[in-house]
Amino acid sequence: MSQPQAIYLSDYRPPAYRVTHTELTFDLDPAATRVKARLHVERHPEREAGEALELDGEQLTLKSIAIDGQPLEEDEYQLTEQGLRVARVPSRFLLDTEVEIAPERNTALEGLYRSGGMFCTQCEAEGFRRITFYPDRPDVMATFSTTVIGDAASLPVLLSNGNPVEKGELPNGRHFVTWEDPHPKPCYLFALVAGDLKKVEDHFTTMSGRDVTLQIWVEEENLGKTDHAMASLKRAMRWDEETYGREYDLDLFMIVAVNDFNMGAMENKGLNIFNSAAVLTHPDTATDAAFQRVEGIVAHEYFHNWSGNRVTCRDWFQLSLKEGFTVFRDQSFSADVNSAPVKRIEDVSFFRTAQFAEDAGPTAHPVRPDHYIEIGNFYTLTIYEKGAEIVRMLRNLVGWEAFRRGSDLYFSRFDGQAVTIEDFVSCMAEASGHNLDQFMLWYSQAGTPEIDAHGEYDYARAEYRLILRQRTPATPGQPDKQALHIPIRLGLVGTKSGRDLALTLDGESLGRDAVIHLREDEQEFVFTDLAEAPVPSLARGFSAPIKLNFPYSREDLAFLLANDSDGFNRWDAGQRLSLLALDDLIAAHRNGVEKVMDGRVIEAFRTLLTGDTDDKAVLAEMLTLPSEAYIAEQQPLVDVDAIHAARQFVKQSLARTLRDEFLAVYQANRDDSPYAPEPDQIAARSLKNVALSYLMSIEDEEGVELAQQQFEAEHNMTDVRHALTLLTHSSRDDLADPALKAFGRKWAHDPLVMDQWFSIQVSRPQADALERVKFLMDHPAFSLTNPNKVRALIGAFAQNRVNFHRLDGEGYKLLADVVIELNRLNPEIAARMITPLTRWARYDETRQELMKAELERIRAEDLSPNVYEVVEKALA
Ligand code: PHE
Ligand code: ZN
Repeated sequence: MSQPQAIYLSDYRPPAYRVTHTELTFDLDPAATRVKARLHVERHPEREAGEALELDGEQLTLKSIAIDGQPLEEDEYQLTEQGLRVARVPSRFLLDTEVEIAPERNTALEGLYRSGGMFCTQCEAEGFRRITFYPDRPDVMATFSTTVIGDAASLPVLLSNGNPVEKGELPNGRHFVTWEDPHPKPCYLFALVAGDLKKVEDHFTTMSGRDVTLQIWVEEENLGKTDHAMASLKRAMRWDEETYGREYDLDLFMIVAVNDFNMGAMENKGLNIFNSAAVLTHPDTATDAAFQRVEGIVAHEYFHNWSGNRVTCRDWFQLSLKEGFTVFRDQSFSADVNSAPVKRIEDVSFFRTAQFAEDAGPTAHPVRPDHYIEIGNFYTLTIYEKGAEIVRMLRNLVGWEAFRRGSDLYFSRFDGQAVTIEDFVSCMAEASGHNLDQFMLWYSQAGTPEIDAHGEYDYARAEYRLILRQRTPATPGQPDKQALHIPIRLGLVGTKSGRDLALTLDGESLGRDAVIHLREDEQEFVFTDLAEAPVPSLARGFSAPIKLNFPYSREDLAFLLANDSDGFNRWDAGQRLSLLALDDLIAAHRNGVEKVMDGRVIEAFRTLLTGDTDDKAVLAEMLTLPSEAYIAEQQPLVDVDAIHAARQFVKQSLARTLRDEFLAVYQANRDDSPYAPEPDQIAARSLKNVALSYLMSIEDEEGVELAQQQFEAEHNMTDVRHALTLLTHSSRDDLADPALKAFGRKWAHDPLVMDQWFSIQVSRPQADALERVKFLMDHPAFSLTNPNKVRALIGAFAQNRVNFHRLDGEGYKLLADVVIELNRLNPEIAARMITPLTRWARYDETRQELMKAELERIRAEDLSPNVYEVVEKALA
């Protein structure tokens, strides 16, 4: 295979030809589907006449080609691995092609493929070129008319974008439906679904009084699992009207659930296709977290109708234009309809664990990359989550009202166009009057900025002097960084009063909670007229995607944990306090000295457990120790075993000392009323289950009994799964084995529940986790061609820190074996699965060598561009 080539943002040119209208006819067959395309083509006004027509196309068998009705001779066009070229074309013409494709052989799940008995498509980013010859780029936008022909008995339902306009019977037991989508769209938003599907239907009246039909299409056995997605959809539609003034623009909105899908879901115009795991819920089969995830993803895809579809990306370097903005929108939605502080805590803990690691590793890239080999590798936490943090900073910089005016301006000015990140930011600048030039660096500089802060209080002058120094580390291809514009939201909490002090900066009064702007490498801020010494509460609400170091004492942190008015920073103070204690214990473990628990952490937990709280959900977060992955993120070099031992020690020490308090919290939060995914119930469940985790960490007799009861009561999946996890992760196989067996038998028929069953067992800390993975790979419910299964079994194992990082290298070897197989079956998933190996530089020398050896072994294969790009970066 020839070495894949990089594509550069700086090479962008408008297309030579554009397509204004696209007519497609699919004659569906698993082995040989025929696709006829009639493209209405015209020369781009900015390009000269006489240029060749170049169309993308991969794995297509061309059957016929004609221009304006005239079949082309063989010497009038050229076919390559990448597409089709016609040297001479008129300035305006009709192009007719017919190709043959084989959906049943498509294991990459890009283009048209089979999932069970159905046909479905996935075109983002570059899947449409596996369906027909086309200018497969987002700046070519056309209206579509699509006719789907299929076997009437096995494929009674035939769907595509827009509205159905015609249907009928055909000879040989076939039938057809024709769909028209009046909104011009890039081909990555094209979708087709055909199968034996059942629908659940509902209605929504838009703000201007139009009736929209809402449909969720599923396999018959899943008909009982759509309520929550439908309710979420309606909430999201209303929210987008009320919050952003955005109304839905077709008469029909469809969601389809498919079992084989590379990602969470896809925002195809009027026909969103969902991974079944991201749409189906039932109290007996889905956890609270899954219910909330479904709500967020349904909203995310719906919001794309404006941020992504009506206004789309000029090229794939602008991916965060639609994804960063849309993630910000779905995060705001979820915060509004659930507990806002908990949503922020969850998002930030995930971000600081996973995105920080990405930003510090060999695949680090800016939110707007300037080159790539395979765009499929850029659906990353940086593009999505860091992109959302940038939009959030913008909102906070200009204020909600100006932000909303900027958003309105963006949607009206660019409606129906394919645009850039500058276009978005310039609307915000225009609507707010802010200069955002320096701010733009957030899009072009990779790496997590580190802020070193320190401060001192001058009693005599009643001043607090805060010094902030910023530095962004070098990342691949970017050795030197410039100073960013970093908004730091802060308060100064009075050490006597425990209250936020009034802030006066340069004679200006800023209230008690304010944003200061760090723009230089180093800046000093002097707050005056402070009657008492403060402890600073910095970067409240995680006001910027940065690492902030401040030399807090443990007393300072305990003080903030008790007094900070910002719920997020109160939680963060607790995390920092635990991290300091964990640091000591990690060192103790490594040096082989006796571990001693920090009494201040115990006292802080005691206060939390015995105080009366109005927010149980936040309390549950506060009682949760930083994860091993997050602790690892804080260490200069990751010592897997020391981290595991230290965290376990803290957990057990807390459980032993505060056993009765945990038990009381557990008992106080039991609830036998019927399950509902409501904030209050969710909060009580999470608090109860956190308490149970502590009790189980010491295998307390009563705790064990409660876990077993909770498992056997089968009240709802949140409780059952949590109990099963605790039993499975305990040291006692007499607890783990019967529970796993019962659960596996009960749910053998439900693939989404079996995924959970896989994950739970392979993430256990006991030494047999790797053997279990191998054993389960032969389980009838497992399949390497189904991405959910791969993630549930292999992905979950790669997160099992002690076992994946086994010193004999067997964990790494297993992952590399899987990557090598997936490289042939599904390159996109293969490339994603490599991630843990790319982080080798963070580990000790022995593990480094083992991990690199596996990367080298992968490199020796005949690689897809996806895997090639990741492996080359990892070994560079
Ligand atoms: N655009 C989808 C989303 O963010 C994600 C996706 C990308 C799905 C590529 C499939 C393929 O909602
Ligand atoms: Zn998206």
